[in-house]
Amino acid sequence: MRFVEFWKTGHICPLLAMLLQLLLPGVIANRVWNQYIPRLQLSNTELRSKNSLAMFWDNGAEVHGYYEVMLLDEDRGWLLVGGRDHVYMLDSENLNQTIDKIHWPAGREHTERCKHAGKNLLTDCANFVRLLQPFNKTHVFACGTGAYHPKCTYIDLGHNVEEPALRLLSSSVESGRGKCPFSPHEPFTARLTDGDLYAGTSVDFMGNNAAIFRSSVHTTSQHYIRTEAFNDHWLNEPEFVGSYSIPDTHSVDDDKVYFFFKETAVESNQLDKRIYSRVARVCKNDIGGKRSLINRWSTFLKARLVCSVSGSGGMDTHFDELEDIFLLETKDPQNPVIYGVFSTSSSVFRGSAVCVYSMASIRAAFNGPFAHKEGPDYRWVEYKGRIPYPRPGTCPSETYDPLHKSTRDFPDEVMSFMRGHQMMWEPVVPIHRRPLFTQINAPYRLKKLVVDKVDAEDGQYNVLHLGTDDGKVLKVVSIPKENWETEEIILEELSVFQSPILSMEISTKRQALFVSSADAVARLPLQRCELYGKACADCCLARDPYCAWDGTTCTNYFPTNKRRSRRQDVRYGDPWSQCQDLGDVSEEIELKVVYGVEKNSTFLECMPSSPQATVKWIMQQRHSQSTKELLSGEDIILTKRGLLLQRITSLNAGVYSCTAHEHSFSRTLARYELQVIPEEHVTNTRITQHSDPKVGGNYAPSSLSYKDLHLIGVSGLTADEYCEQLWYREKRKQQKLRTLKWKQRSDSSKARVRRQNPPNKPLQ
Ligand SMILES: *[C@@H]1O[C@H](CO)[C@@H](O)[C@H](O)[C@H]1NC(C)=O
Ligand SMILES: *[C@@H]1O[C@H](CO)[C@@H](O)[C@H](O)[C@H]1NC(C)=O
Ligand SMILES: *[C@@H]1O[C@H](CO)[C@@H](O)[C@H](O)[C@H]1NC(C)=O
Repeated sequence: MRFVEFWKTGHICPLLAMLLQLLLPGVIANRVWNQYIPRLQLSNTELRSKNSLAMFWDNGAEVHGYYEVMLLDEDRGWLLVGGRDHVYMLDSENLNQTIDKIHWPAGREHTERCKHAGKNLLTDCANFVRLLQPFNKTHVFACGTGAYHPKCTYIDLGHNVEEPALRLLSSSVESGRGKCPFSPHEPFTARLTDGDLYAGTSVDFMGNNAAIFRSSVHTTSQHYIRTEAFNDHWLNEPEFVGSYSIPDTHSVDDDKVYFFFKETAVESNQLDKRIYSRVARVCKNDIGGKRSLINRWSTFLKARLVCSVSGSGGMDTHFDELEDIFLLETKDPQNPVIYGVFSTSSSVFRGSAVCVYSMASIRAAFNGPFAHKEGPDYRWVEYKGRIPYPRPGTCPSETYDPLHKSTRDFPDEVMSFMRGHQMMWEPVVPIHRRPLFTQINAPYRLKKLVVDKVDAEDGQYNVLHLGTDDGKVLKVVSIPKENWETEEIILEELSVFQSPILSMEISTKRQALFVSSADAVARLPLQRCELYGKACADCCLARDPYCAWDGTTCTNYFPTNKRRSRRQDVRYGDPWSQCQDLGDVSEEIELKVVYGVEKNSTFLECMPSSPQATVKWIMQQRHSQSTKELLSGEDIILTKRGLLLQRITSLNAGVYSCTAHEHSFSRTLARYELQVIPEEHVTNTRITQHSDPKVGGNYAPSSLSYKDLHLIGVSGLTADEYCEQLWYREKRKQQKLRTLKWKQRSDSSKARVRRQNPPNKPLQ
């Protein structure tokens, strides 16, 4: 499977691409690969030089800051960042403007104990701030790992918006057990709502005792409620990803908190340990049971979250491992849209996917049948027995049933049912029963996402901003098509960091994206429209809902009433409908003369500015009126950089033109006239003497065969590098042939001169 490594972002000789396609799973076979090439690809240096990236890191810190958590205050324009031993307050408009920072280290004795326990001083034994949640108008609730001794307190932001100052309430520091993990590396989630903190975390040094907790923040009471400890039917080695408070009906009694996580699946075969993703929920008014389930959730239920692609022959590709969750608000607070990023557990190939879930499908799973372990082989099956009243998982509500004021009033029958049935039988399936977006064998994994609803000229689009484990940010737009189909386009791929993206926040008010890593925090504008190109067609073809053509440039689109002057077509990307003066520019493209030696090879360069364009070659033979399209074959190879003619004959002489096609739009990029030099004219001329020493007189590849393709694999050269080498060799060769032709001409003219002027007689 060495070939699979070449399958990077599509920069590959098309022939190789064809070969590779045969080796890859069915997922991508029915997708147009072109969609997955980003329209704009920017390195960190390019981003900086285009003023599209601002960075923050703590210059004073001796080790990297580990910026794991961010909290954005849209109204006041502050960005709070939690890092190693510090909390920073940054100006969200100007990141390198640190408004204030507070030092909040771990206690000395805890640092010592942490070191003694064999943990690493730099990477473990510090206070890694992991939670920043708004508490009230002036205070933020913060927790840190405290060198494996978690602690929490409040940070006072003050009343003065003009001169904000951070102040740590040292007197309020409390234990962070059940609120924050011991380890800076343990995946964790927590949500502060109505004065209660709901957290999915472990509560021990080793990280073995993980649970979903609720503890009260505004009282000094130590009271908490949790999932049963060390019981794998409740939770089995969970890794928490996200948590949200979502109302279920108009009654506050029905308010619930939802947890998203992955865990070792108890229902899968014991021998092959599988990871499944889950959604779980608890009632906010759950206070546990009276005789059993004391201080335990009595409404805890969970269901499997499925994100998979059905393949041919019933072979589904499962993206089992949840990486991140984003809740996209809608007008209806009961029905936000849930976006999840998943990755595969497969050791064979690397895949990521984004799946979208409706609250209706999540509720349907919780209202459906329960799962149950039963039968002679003791397997997980659908529970078909009697379900007690009130239905387990229902929140107590006095208005609904005066007998059930709280969970303590639930009948024993309900409590004992809850002890044995946490899992639902039906999984939650994504909208349209498939992922919105998948990436197979990309050089990275998707790790984080935020979603933005963008108003464009032709409707509203959801734009995904995805963070990868190699520090990139992808911008992907999802465009609805007929029959519930959607088309996804990678608009941008931005290299922001070299380490994984740890968190992402979006500011729609400031049209900016904040991303953090272990090393730094970065601010990126949501768009870089001007980089799509200088023409209306480029702007239109990009199909970026953030961008429109304003008559002179491609700029940020703001919906206004002035329709006339803004040109944008996200749905179809059709410049003919949007741009004037497209005309036929092919006549203006210069016709370049190139030379090729008979039986030898030659290369005609043609590279579209948009990597999403497809290129067509048309040829008109010498002394002929008809034209034909050239397709890759035995003697012709179409590559990313141009056309390779492998074995030239006199029939190859003629005019070649290369056109770029994107959606319904096409334009001519290059035109060549190929003149064929008969072989015998070349063989007796010793051009090798003039050749580049680097090439050592060696000529371009005489032919590129399947054997060569195999060699690429063996030599460890990527297809990309191979294509590049090919291209440079051809460039050098053309230069030599030009010299040859010129020499031949000047030789023959010299000969003519010589004939007229005998050599021993000097010229007059
Ligand atoms: C802040 O950033 C701006 C540009 O982004 C730069 O010109 C300026 O020097 C920076 N200031 C500091 C203190 O780093
Ligand atoms: C916010 O909470 C803090 C901490 O409990 C408290 O001291 C402060 O008075 C509260 N502020 C407001 C405006 O309620
Ligand atoms: C291509 O031309 C060079 C120089 O004339 C020659 O050495 C080489 O053998 C040729 N290749 C083929 C396949 O004719």
